[in-house]
Amino acid sequence: MPTMGIRILKLALLACRTCDAASDESRTPLMMLEMVAREFVFFGASPQGAVDSERPRMPMRIIGAGLGRTGTSSLVGALKQLGYTPYHMKEGVVDKTHYQQWARLIDAWVGDAKEKAAAMEAVIDLMAVEGFDATTDYPACLIFEELMVRYPEAKVVLSVRSSGETWAKSVLQTIGGFHALLGQRPFSFTANMRTFAKVAEGVFPLTGVELHPVTRIPEAASLAKAHDDWIEHVRKVVPPERLLVHQFSDGFGPLCEILKIPASACPAEYPRLNDTAVMKAAMMTLQIVSWIWVPVLLSILGLGVQCLRCCLCRSASKVHGKGQ
Ligand SMILES: *[C@@H]1O[C@H](CO)[C@@H](O)[C@H](O)[C@H]1NC(C)=O
Repeated sequence: MPTMGIRILKLALLACRTCDAASDESRTPLMMLEMVAREFVFFGASPQGAVDSERPRMPMRIIGAGLGRTGTSSLVGALKQLGYTPYHMKEGVVDKTHYQQWARLIDAWVGDAKEKAAAMEAVIDLMAVEGFDATTDYPACLIFEELMVRYPEAKVVLSVRSSGETWAKSVLQTIGGFHALLGQRPFSFTANMRTFAKVAEGVFPLTGVELHPVTRIPEAASLAKAHDDWIEHVRKVVPPERLLVHQFSDGFGPLCEILKIPASACPAEYPRLNDTAVMKAAMMTLQIVSWIWVPVLLSILGLGVQCLRCCLCRSASKVHGKGQ
C-alpha cells in the first residue's frame, strides 16, 4: 500500500512535469510538490553504511548514565563548552542515523547473548569512530556499565531531576508520547520512522518504565519510581570516586571538579536549555500531519489528474491549430 501510494504520487508528478515542460507557466508550485515527494521517498531509504574499520577511534572520556529529560541538552551544552564532543539522542542517534544500530541492540537485549554482544560492539564502535568522547541521554545511558568496562578511565555523570515526580511530568509532556505518534500513519509507512520509533519506545522498558499495553504511553506511577530506582542502581554499580550525580542547578563547579578542570578554566554560567516547548510543538505538528495526510494526498492526486487533463487538452488544441 505505501509503495503503491508513492508510485501513484510519482506518476502524477511525472504527468505534471511533462505538461509543465511543454508550457511557459511558472514551475514554482510544481517544484514544491516535487520537493515534498522527494522528502517522502527519502524517509523510506536506509542510508546507514558499514563502519570504516580503518578510521581512528576516540576513547570515551565521560559516560552519561542519566535518563532522557534530566537536563541532558544543558549537559551537552556544558560539555561542549569544556571541549568535549557529546553524544545525545539529537546528536549522533538521529542526525547520523545511528538509531538503526541502536534498534538492533534493543531487539537483541533480551534475546541471544551473542547477538546482543555484537550489537553492543557495533554501537560503541559507531560512537568512537564518529569522534564522540562523552555520552548523555537515552539510548546511550542504557549501556553505561559496558562503557565503564571498555573505558576504565572515563568518569560517570548521572544527571538527575529534583524528584521522580518532576521527571515523570517532564517525560509525559515530551518524549513519553513521541514513539506513539511516529507509530501512526503516514510516518509508520517509512522504515526509518518505524526503526526510530522502536528505539524511542524501547528505551523505556529497559530503564524500568512500564508502558500502557494499548497506547504505549508510559504509566505515570511507574515513571517516578523508575527515575529513583535508576539512581539507586547507578550508585550501586559505580564506585563513588568515579561518579558525579548532577542536577543542572548544581552548575559547572562539581563537573569541573570531577573532570579535574582547574577553577580558573571552568566557565561561570551553566547553560540552561529547555526544549520542552520545541518538543511540544514538534509533537503537535506530527499529530496534525497524522490527521490531515489523507486529504492532502488526495488533493495532490487531484492536482496531478488536473495537470494531465490540461496537458491533453493543450496538445489536442495544438493538433487542432496545426490542422487549420
Ligand atoms: C521548561 O519549560 C516548560 C515550559 O515550556 C516549563 O513548564 C518547565 O518548568 C521548564 N523546565 C525547567 C527545568 O526549567
